[in-house]
Amino acid sequence: MIDYTEKIPNNVDLGRDRVLQRALEHWQPAFLGWWSDMGPNESSNYEVYLRTATSVEPDGWAQFGYVRMPEYRWGIFLQPRDETRQVNFGRHKGQAAWQEVPGEYRSILRRVIVTQGDTEPASVEQQKALGLSCPSLYDLRNIFQVNVEEGRHLWAMVYLLHRYFGRDGREEAESLLARRSGDTDNPRILGAFNEPTPDWLAFYMFTFFTDRDGKFQLCALAESGFDPLSRTCRFMLTEEAHHMFVGETGVSRIIQRTCDVMNEHKIDDPSDVRAMGVIDLQTIQRYLNFHYSVTLDLYGSDVSSNAANYYTSGLKGRFRETKLADDHILSEADYPVWEVLETKIVEKRVPALTALNERLRDDYIGEIEDGVARWQKVIDTAGIPFKLTLPHKGFHREIGNFAGHHISLTGEVLTQDAWKQHEFEWLPSPSDYKYVQSLMSGRVTELGKFANWIAPPIRGINNQPLNFEYIRFN
Ligand SMILES: [Fe+2]
Ligand SMILES: [Fe+2]
Repeated sequence: MIDYTEKIPNNVDLGRDRVLQRALEHWQPAFLGWWSDMGPNESSNYEVYLRTATSVEPDGWAQFGYVRMPEYRWGIFLQPRDETRQVNFGRHKGQAAWQEVPGEYRSILRRVIVTQGDTEPASVEQQKALGLSCPSLYDLRNIFQVNVEEGRHLWAMVYLLHRYFGRDGREEAESLLARRSGDTDNPRILGAFNEPTPDWLAFYMFTFFTDRDGKFQLCALAESGFDPLSRTCRFMLTEEAHHMFVGETGVSRIIQRTCDVMNEHKIDDPSDVRAMGVIDLQTIQRYLNFHYSVTLDLYGSDVSSNAANYYTSGLKGRFRETKLADDHILSEADYPVWEVLETKIVEKRVPALTALNERLRDDYIGEIEDGVARWQKVIDTAGIPFKLTLPHKGFHREIGNFAGHHISLTGEVLTQDAWKQHEFEWLPSPSDYKYVQSLMSGRVTELGKFANWIAPPIRGINNQPLNFEYIRFN
């Protein structure tokens, strides 16, 4: 169970290690200072109907209640230890899972944890202003839930840094509060986490696409031979599921509303659709293209000796590593990656160990395809002849084999000029952003009311009705 009587709620017996406890209690006010500067705008007095974990068991989410976000019980929760757990892949396969950091892997492991940790506060910063244009109290509550949980994910990584990496770890924990999303001097580490999230369509796309990258990274780290990392990632994954739910249903509800309006008024021209104050399907497709392509970059280079090294060292596994039926060493296996050869995209087989980023990206794409198919079903059910498509994997990429090339949506290799001519057919244009922004000029806070551009959800949070007071503004 989680001890909420402690200053820092935890299930790791923090009180037994006074030095660590003091170090974290010292970091806590710095975190709260960061939240007050970079957390959701104007929200510190709101009472928000939030869930708080009562235990790390799958049913440990029973606790819903009104909380002022600065008083949210951020803490340290690890899944219970399995004494029999082993390192399940790489050169140490079969050894008992490590309870302390192996000295030889200290710096790469620290890097992995810092890179994961950096994404958590970054997304809160990206979403900071969105509360002021929420489409309903239900949606406002959901974004706040996502925000406080990203804050807790930061706590999860900071605990590991403090507990296992000594002074270096404490310095990294400070830096996690010092970088800022989109800052030119001190940006967040990964590209997608420096992009703005200017409106709610972008927010839902982000939580569908980019939080799902989070899921896949956490799944790979949950396989780690470093057991404390594995145990914390397993608990983080239970929180991540809600973030992806918010994204998928958010986009789905926007599509639903657009389709309803198109049918009601028998219109299909995007400008007619916009005249009704909803978001045309073409613009939704362009947002999809943008968020998909920038998120694909997060998996890193298609061929990567770092990825091979992480794997062989037993630090980062594959998606569902222990469910895969092979030798978990991969010294003989190969894997296909894509390369641009002059004007063609060609397949090339490379050692599987070096292609682990690409493999994780492919696993991710599989899940994305399923989600997009569910959005498509909304359009099909409405009887509207419009097909959402996923861009070619090489489209609009800045990292890996496609970087520096100009790939069309359907995978042709173009010249820069030819690509530029289509840029705003394929990606949101400044006027698309301006239009979407124009719909979201103020917030909708009346009980049970939803903005014109989005359909209500099917049900409320924790079985509450849609007109429930999810936020008390005070
Ligand atoms: Fe997260
Ligand atoms: Fe998340």
